[in-house]
Amino acid sequence: MKRKANHLLLDQAKISKKDEFYTQLVDIERELKHYSSHFSGKVIYCNCDDVETSNFFKYFATNFETLGIKKIICACYKKSSDGLGAYFEYTGGAVNYDDIKYFSSDGDFRSLESIKLLEQSDIVVTNPPFSLFREYISQLITYNKKFLVISNINAITYKEIFNLIQNNKAWLGINLGRGISGFIVPSHYELYGQETKINDQGERIVSPNNCMWLTNLSNFKRQEFIQLTKKYAGNENEYPNYDNCNGINVNKTKNIPADYDGLMGVPITFLHKFNPRQFEIIKFRKGDDGKDLRINGKSTYFRILIKNKLVKKNYSSSTVVCYEQQNLKFGS
Ligand SMILES: C[S@@+](CC[C@H](N)C(=O)[O-])C[C@H]1O[C@@H](n2cnc3c(N)ncnc32)[C@H](O)[C@@H]1O
Repeated sequence: MKRKANHLLLDQAKISKKDEFYTQLVDIERELKHYSSHFSGKVIYCNCDDVETSNFFKYFATNFETLGIKKIICACYKKSSDGLGAYFEYTGGAVNYDDIKYFSSDGDFRSLESIKLLEQSDIVVTNPPFSLFREYISQLITYNKKFLVISNINAITYKEIFNLIQNNKAWLGINLGRGISGFIVPSHYELYGQETKINDQGERIVSPNNCMWLTNLSNFKRQEFIQLTKKYAGNENEYPNYDNCNGINVNKTKNIPADYDGLMGVPITFLHKFNPRQFEIIKFRKGDDGKDLRINGKSTYFRILIKNKLVKKNYSSSTVVCYEQQNLKFGS
């Protein structure tokens, strides 16, 4: 029992350590350049950000005029032992830290004071604490906010997040995995043998390679069609059937057959290429018996069950024809 409790403490410590990953300007620029058209006339809220150190604030303040932003609100949480949370409102010109205001409590994103600022905002952009990610996103949905946030790729497997993605209420951003180069960690951070380096500003960087952007702002990638070059007909043995679901297993997104009209189980990285005009997400991971998808008795890796919306079966000739797909210009 004691041993279990110790493990729990260690897990919690590891979780809160992940909350101390700070985002590099280079990674913010690499993603946010794809959303320039969204920020004009808008109030941007960075609600997990210290104005004096946040690269999200730096990015928006530096590009304030060019993007036509109306206002930036930047709010920072403080553990109660460290004092009060604080926030800063910026409407252009020189940044004066003397204008920082204090919350009456810790500045938790769930506090009434922070929610009041959320209500005044149009778009929330930040890297929130991963240990509170479910609650964080659920609040944004409750308040009907636009958002662009960093998350662990694992969050896709959370029921709440998967439901949003399935229902086209959230989708992946442009960069993920190695596309996010790494996070600034404090000097006291224990590295657990992770890959580290020092960046140009002398900051300590870890590159976990397991993060992504999650958003409900439109981006170009979501408009692109996956170019499907493989066929199911004639290659059936490359696509085994599941034991507990009427569908086939596809090991790589690029191997999705262009001519299959039924359920296909694809890796979760498919979501990075998902275009809702081409595919429909049916469900996650489980077969008809509610258990993990299996092939010949063996569970597969996490799979998302999808259907190609553009493949229609031509019953009269019993061949499969991609009517619309043939007329589509991929990538347009
Ligand atoms: C992953 S770090 C990212 C910091 C900053 N957004 C960035 O990208 O550099 C998450 C931040 O959320 C803060 N935080 C933790 N719990 C919070 C809460 N309940 N409400 C608001 N912020 C919180 C942490 O102090 C930490 O600074």
